[in-house]
Amino acid sequence: MSEIILKVENLKKEFLLSKDRKIKAVKGISFEVKRGEIFGFLGPNGAGKSTTISMITTQQEPTSGRIYIDEQSLLENPALARRKIGVVAQHNNLDRGLTARENLIYHAKYFGMDDSTANKRANEYLEKFGLKDRENDYVRGFSGGMAQRLKIARAIMHNPDILFLDEPTTGLDPSYRTVLWDQMLALNKEGTTIFLTTHYMEEPEQLCDRIAIVDQGELKAIGTVEELKNLIPTTNIISIKLANLDKGFVEKAKALPEVENATIQNDLLLLYMKHEHPDFNQILEWVKTLNTTLLNISLSTSTLDDVFIYLTGKEGINNGENK
Ligand SMILES: Nc1ncnc2c1ncn2[C@@H]1O[C@H](COP(=O)(O)OP(=O)(O)OP(=O)(O)O)[C@@H](O)[C@H]1O
Ligand SMILES: [Mg+2]
Repeated sequence: MSEIILKVENLKKEFLLSKDRKIKAVKGISFEVKRGEIFGFLGPNGAGKSTTISMITTQQEPTSGRIYIDEQSLLENPALARRKIGVVAQHNNLDRGLTARENLIYHAKYFGMDDSTANKRANEYLEKFGLKDRENDYVRGFSGGMAQRLKIARAIMHNPDILFLDEPTTGLDPSYRTVLWDQMLALNKEGTTIFLTTHYMEEPEQLCDRIAIVDQGELKAIGTVEELKNLIPTTNIISIKLANLDKGFVEKAKALPEVENATIQNDLLLLYMKHEHPDFNQILEWVKTLNTTLLNISLSTSTLDDVFIYLTGKEGINNGENK
């Protein structure tokens, strides 16, 4: 068995937007995912995440490039790859005219599962994802969160080797978010590789063995959380809250000798300091020259969110749990 479960080489996808307008949604991405990893694939809206997943999971053909699942070329043998893949797509692709239970059973049967195993697994997942009392209802009447839970259950019915989750927690309330992660960690312990895209920064920061950051169809960085954090010039960030935040303060801050970089995030002015243990007095003296009132000042170490902003210039979603 190869250590590499997924290999993507120079993958490209172009879309025709109108008669004479094309978009390069994915511009030659290459990366590998190791067997048993929890791999995060992060990027702002429109970065090309879902397009990449849809090519790897055989839902769309690449414009060019190569994909290997378990050393087998996906383009040459899509049926073989499909057996090894589970996917929770970003959009609702359940069969709305079937019941919840039928969605699970038909999926399992498609992959050749026998009746008794299919029923056993369907019972287990309907129970786990809180859908047992709705199992015989048509999916068309399901709420967004219920449909999302059923999509997750369906994706794992056939025991995939690698599971793709495209924004899986969107629409899930906090308790089902916990159920999802417990289930994913249990599957991962049994050997399932997890490929995750999300906008919630604390999920990959806590869960992922390695993370790729994409933006505008290009791979910006790949590595462990620690490796990515090391891409930021400093690990010490001073966040300053002011009564009036002027965009011009960013350029002024960048001119300070101790400051490596500066940016505005939410309503805070962030200073990326060159050295550890920065001199607060100097910064306080500087703040006085800005002719506004200082409301708060604090020192924090960098988070995955900071790396994301540094590489893409855009914010991820932070639940406020790690700031
Ligand atoms: N079928 C399509 N036809 C035309 N353009 C498309 C199509 N699918 C995606 N695109 C374009 O490709 C780009 C990448 O889209 P994609 O859905 O892969 O982004 P994403 O990273 O998943 O974003 P999000 O975080 O919003 O889910 C976008 O500019 C999008 O408009
Ligand atoms: Mg997407």
